[in-house]
Amino acid sequence: MVPSMFIFYVMVITMFLLVLSSFFLLHLSNHSFIPRSMLELIIVYNTSLHFKPNFKGEQITPSPFPSEDSKIQPQSCQLYYNSSQKPSCPIQQRKLACDTTRGVLRLFMYDLPPEFHFGLLGWKGSVNQTWPNVNDPKHVPPYPGGLNLQHSVEYWLTLDLLSSNIAKFSRPCSALRVQNSSEADVIFVPFFSSLSYNRHSQSHGKEKVSLNKMLQKRLVQFLMGREEWKRSRGRDHVIVAHHPNSMRYARRKLGSAMLVLADFGRYPSNLANIRKDIIAPYRHLVSTIPRSESASFEERSTLLYFQGAIYRKSGGVIRQQLYYLLKDEKDVHFAFGSIRSNGINQASKGMALSKFCLNVAGDTPSSNRLFDAIVSHCVPVIISDKIELPFEDVLNYSEFALFVHASDAVRKDYLLNLLCSIKQEEWTKMWERLKDVTQHFEYQYPSQPGDAVNMIWEEVAHKISSLQFNLHRKYQRS
Ligand SMILES: *[C@@H]1O[C@H](CO)[C@@H](O)[C@H](O)[C@H]1NC(C)=O
Ligand SMILES: *[C@@H]1O[C@H](CO)[C@@H](O)[C@H](O)[C@H]1NC(C)=O
Ligand SMILES: *[C@@H]1O[C@H](CO)[C@@H](O)[C@H](O)[C@H]1NC(C)=O
Ligand SMILES: *[C@@H]1O[C@H](CO)[C@@H](O)[C@H](O)[C@H]1NC(C)=O
Ligand SMILES: *[C@@H]1O[C@H](CO)[C@@H](O)[C@H](O)[C@H]1NC(C)=O
Repeated sequence: MVPSMFIFYVMVITMFLLVLSSFFLLHLSNHSFIPRSMLELIIVYNTSLHFKPNFKGEQITPSPFPSEDSKIQPQSCQLYYNSSQKPSCPIQQRKLACDTTRGVLRLFMYDLPPEFHFGLLGWKGSVNQTWPNVNDPKHVPPYPGGLNLQHSVEYWLTLDLLSSNIAKFSRPCSALRVQNSSEADVIFVPFFSSLSYNRHSQSHGKEKVSLNKMLQKRLVQFLMGREEWKRSRGRDHVIVAHHPNSMRYARRKLGSAMLVLADFGRYPSNLANIRKDIIAPYRHLVSTIPRSESASFEERSTLLYFQGAIYRKSGGVIRQQLYYLLKDEKDVHFAFGSIRSNGINQASKGMALSKFCLNVAGDTPSSNRLFDAIVSHCVPVIISDKIELPFEDVLNYSEFALFVHASDAVRKDYLLNLLCSIKQEEWTKMWERLKDVTQHFEYQYPSQPGDAVNMIWEEVAHKISSLQFNLHRKYQRS
């Protein structure tokens, strides 16, 4: 009797201690029964941002591949639109008049000396004049034509910012230039880096270093000395480096900024990636086919069109293989020669009368050819296994382009069988879509709703909202 009573008391006391200790353990560990990682998710979902959490790590990043139904992401736009109103995206908003108190991406642009931008175009202002007068679109300093033009993104973006405070332009309000950097969401660096590379990479006469290299060195010095750069270590800066070889000397030092690029081909992924950077279209070289003049299925006599250099460095081997597969096929135009020697007009006519236009990886994954095809309403056939396309989060390229794996494309008859299997009705659907999307690939001044300039600003707004979110989290934790 006595021993069993003793055991009973011992058990009661043990139970009590156990309950007490586990209570203290839970209570002390986190002040909560919910694990910390779970709490973070709750906080994330409670914000107005719409991000897919990354369950693998602590860092929460937006998904680079939004699903179809999140294509227009209303929540992420609330950073820029008064949230007490119906949430709306810049893309839907752009037809409304510009209300400078809300709804726009605010950019501050450094007043870099003209030698970094319009000076490279030969523009000379009066003493101490930094920017040309852009009031009259007919008299803005022109960008050089020919092949230079394909990387002219820097020029169109800068012009758009210069014009953003000119009231008479009814330009879309996706971006607004502000004069005080502390009011800005983003800092824009107006360096014409592609032109600097194209025009000034050789050193002349007694110069030891090229002008291109010198400007980059000075740009790095300038930025490192700026409060704006130090504030965020450059992460809210937008730098345009569209030519794959531009900013070669400065890119390591300035890689934390948001880069506007043609592709990621020549960048290590820690320096440039889809999470922070923006892929912008090339300025097409052929002229846009007006909607009403676009040749229909029957009127396009060539099945497949390709014109370009056949022998290219790395990544271009497939061009040669395709050439030998296709050169003798009926209805296929596959020709040597760059667009330069054959004339842009010829390519323009050829594409406008072809049903499909081939885009094969060259020495970089991207090329202006894709955009030439789009504005010619010639259905692009994209053969490049690692191409990043502009505005992929808002445009579904499969609606107006075909994607073929390089390994399939070089199989005998594969490509032609594929193209022949696409009947008039299906082709026409893609053609209609091409006519609709062409506007998104136009650079122009003054900019128009939905054109490439505005699409880029919208991408910037999108990226910066995730950046601000990340910065905010950093502050909370420290
Ligand atoms: C979470 O959302 C609720 C309801 O929308 C709100 O009352 C609360 O303040 C939010 N909490 C945080 C941490 O944002
Ligand atoms: C949002 O808009 C409402 C009415 O349109 C206004 O009362 C409110 O002050 C605005 N809030 C902000 C933060 O601009
Ligand atoms: C140009 O700027 C310098 C330095 O700020 C100043 O001394 C000079 O007077 C200015 N010249 C003119 C014509 O405004
Ligand atoms: C910019 O704005 C901040 C805060 O509103 C202000 O302190 C600063 O003086 C302004 N700078 C200039 C150059 O106006
Ligand atoms: C993109 O368009 C293609 C062709 O219309 C369609 O099959 C596909 O489902 C679309 N993809 C998404 C993510 O909407």
